[in-house]
Amino acid sequence: MQSRVTAPSLREMKERGEKITVLTAYDYPTAKLMDEAGVDVILVGDSVGMVVLGFENTLPVTMDMMVHHTSAVVRGTKHALVVADMPFLSYQTSVEDAVRNAGRMLQEAGAQAVKLEGGAAALPVVKKLTGMGIPVMGHLGLIPQSVHQFGGYSIQGRGDDAALQLRQDAKALQEAGVFAIVLELVTPDLAKRISNELLIPTIGIGSGSDCDGQVQVMHDLIGYSEEFVPKHAKQYTKIAGQLKDAFRAYISDVRSGKF
Ligand code: KIV
Repeated sequence: MQSRVTAPSLREMKERGEKITVLTAYDYPTAKLMDEAGVDVILVGDSVGMVVLGFENTLPVTMDMMVHHTSAVVRGTKHALVVADMPFLSYQTSVEDAVRNAGRMLQEAGAQAVKLEGGAAALPVVKKLTGMGIPVMGHLGLIPQSVHQFGGYSIQGRGDDAALQLRQDAKALQEAGVFAIVLELVTPDLAKRISNELLIPTIGIGSGSDCDGQVQVMHDLIGYSEEFVPKHAKQYTKIAGQLKDAFRAYISDVRSGKF
């Protein structure tokens, strides 16, 4: 049987020039299908708040919600590395809170790693967690927990100062011990440059194809929403229409007495 992907093995994939595949999942059956399809990493993103729970942004997502969804995903996987997103206020308040909450993700939910957002401000937490053996994935560029500060979901890294800041943050996170960094909505040239400058893999979303891997929110990839598809999403199917057709066929069969 294929063994589970590990945080260090992602770096080896980068060294071999193998692209890393990452998808988000939030429940057991979807995680099982993705795992059987062979995805390398499953991220239980706090995007669960938006695509599953119907919130306007990721800020209302709590630790209890993340533990609940992460444990379901873990039960559905044998091969993929499961990374649990640390929700808003679970790690920004103090290093102690971060340790307790990241610990819950591993101990209660069974995740093998956590992800948290931010550059310089996140370094003390990253150092503490990696120092105690908890693998951490970084997240730079558009960091959705700061949506109110950014004023929306716009491309990051434009201009020399912003680009330099992102490169410095990426290097500092690598030195602090993260095993990979998500680059969200970073200009493709800058994402390529950062990917070349780092030893650890970059995982892009809306940041061009030169990152060491790609991550997509599963609901965007399969067309679960008929209302909103982010510009950077590649839709491989439009499941919403198929689901509605099935629901309508069932309703019609029951009403007509066929079933
Ligand atoms: O929450 C999430 O799904 C994420 C990805 C967009 C990287 O952070």
